[in-house]
Amino acid sequence: AEPLRIALAGLGTVGAGVIRLIETNAELIARRAGRPITITAISARDRTKKRGVDLTPYAWEDDMVVMGERGDVDVVVELVGGSDGPALACARTTIEAGKALVTANKAMIAHHGLELAAKAEAAKVALKFEAAVAGGIPVIKGLREGGAANAFERVYGILNGTCNFILSQMEDTGRDFADVLAEAQARGYAEADPTFDVEGIDAAHKLSILAAIAFGAKIDFNSVDTAGISRLRAADIAQADSLGYVIRLIGMAEPGIAADGSPRLFQRVQPHLVPFDHPLAHVDGATNAVVAEGNFSGRLLFQGAGAGDGPTASAVVADLIDIARGEIGAPFSVPVAELEEMPAADT
Ligand code: NDP
Ligand code: HSE
Repeated sequence: AEPLRIALAGLGTVGAGVIRLIETNAELIARRAGRPITITAISARDRTKKRGVDLTPYAWEDDMVVMGERGDVDVVVELVGGSDGPALACARTTIEAGKALVTANKAMIAHHGLELAAKAEAAKVALKFEAAVAGGIPVIKGLREGGAANAFERVYGILNGTCNFILSQMEDTGRDFADVLAEAQARGYAEADPTFDVEGIDAAHKLSILAAIAFGAKIDFNSVDTAGISRLRAADIAQADSLGYVIRLIGMAEPGIAADGSPRLFQRVQPHLVPFDHPLAHVDGATNAVVAEGNFSGRLLFQGAGAGDGPTASAVVADLIDIARGEIGAPFSVPVAELEEMPAADT
C-alpha cells in the first residue's frame, strides 16, 4: 500500500518523540493503519542541533511554512507551538494546499481552531489535535466518538502536567516552587514560556477546546476565568494538608441557560482545595485527569500522562493512523457552522 508521507514542523520534545515512536513501532503502525507512515521532510529553527534521533534519512526544509506545498508530503505535523507566528502560517498553508494537518498546539487551536477547522472542512482535509489536550490521554476521541450519544453536563479536571508536577512535588517533598518548575522544564513538560503553565493559560487553552468538543460550543478562550498557581507557597500546601485537602489546578466547564433562555457557558481554571478522598486528590506528577459527566454514560474518568515526549507522540501518531485509514471527520463534534454560540455565564 502507498505510504502516508508526513512532514514534521518542529523537532523539540514532541517532534523527536514522534520520530522515535514512528521508527520504533513502524510495523505495528503499518498494520493498524493499513499502510506505512513515513517521514519525508523535517524542519526546525536550528539545523545543526543534536536531538537524540538520526535525522539523516529525512529532507530538511528551511521554510516550514511551505512544507504542505511539497509534492512528497501528504500530512504536515505542526509541533512548533505558539498561537500565531510560523505555526499558524504553516497550518494555514498546509490546509490551503489541500493537505491534512495534525497539531499538538493548544494555543493555536484555542485562538484559531474555528478558522482552521472551517478551512479544513471546506478543503475536505483532516485537521486533528488529540495531543493538544491532556497529552497522551485520548480524551478528544473519547468525548467526540465514545461520548457522541451524550449530552454532557460538566467537564472538569487536571489539564496541566507542569502545575500538577509542581503541586504534588511540593506536597510530597516540600521542595521549592522554582526548583520543581526547573525540573518540569528539564523533563520537557513545560511550555517554551512556562508562564503559560503556571498562570493557568495552558489549562485554559485546553479547557476551551474540551468545552467545544463536549458541548458543541464555539471555542471561547477569552471567556475562561483564569488563575494559576504562581502565588502558591509551601505554607499554603501545608495548611491545606492540615485541613484534609490537597491543592490542584482544576479547569471546569459547564453549560447553563440565561434568564432569557439562551445558552451560556461557564469556564474557569483555578487552584482548588480537593479533599483527600476525591479521585483527583491522588492524581500526582505530570498526570492529567478529565472527568466528563454524560447524561447516559454517567461519570467518565480519563487519566494518564498529560505531558512529555512519549505520551504526546502517542496521541499525535494516533491521529496520523486515523488519517492513514482515510478518516477525515469534522475536527469538532459537529461541523463548525453548527457549533453553538455560548456566551460566558455570569459567575
Ligand atoms: P519544544 O520547544 O521542545 O520544540 C519546539 C520546536 O519548534 C523546536 O524544534 C524548535 O526549533 C521549533 N521552533 C520553535 N520556534 C520556531 C520558529 N520560529 N521557526 C522554526 N522552528 C521553530 O516544544 P515541544 O516539543 O514541547 O512542544 C511542541 C508543541 O506541542 C507545542 O505546541 C506544545 O504546546 C505542544 N505540546 C507539548 C507537550 C509537551 O509535553 N512538551 C504536550 C502536549 C502538547 P529548534 O529545536 O531548532 O529550536
Ligand atoms: N505544558 C503542558 C503541560 C504540556 O505541562 O501540561 C502538555 O500539554
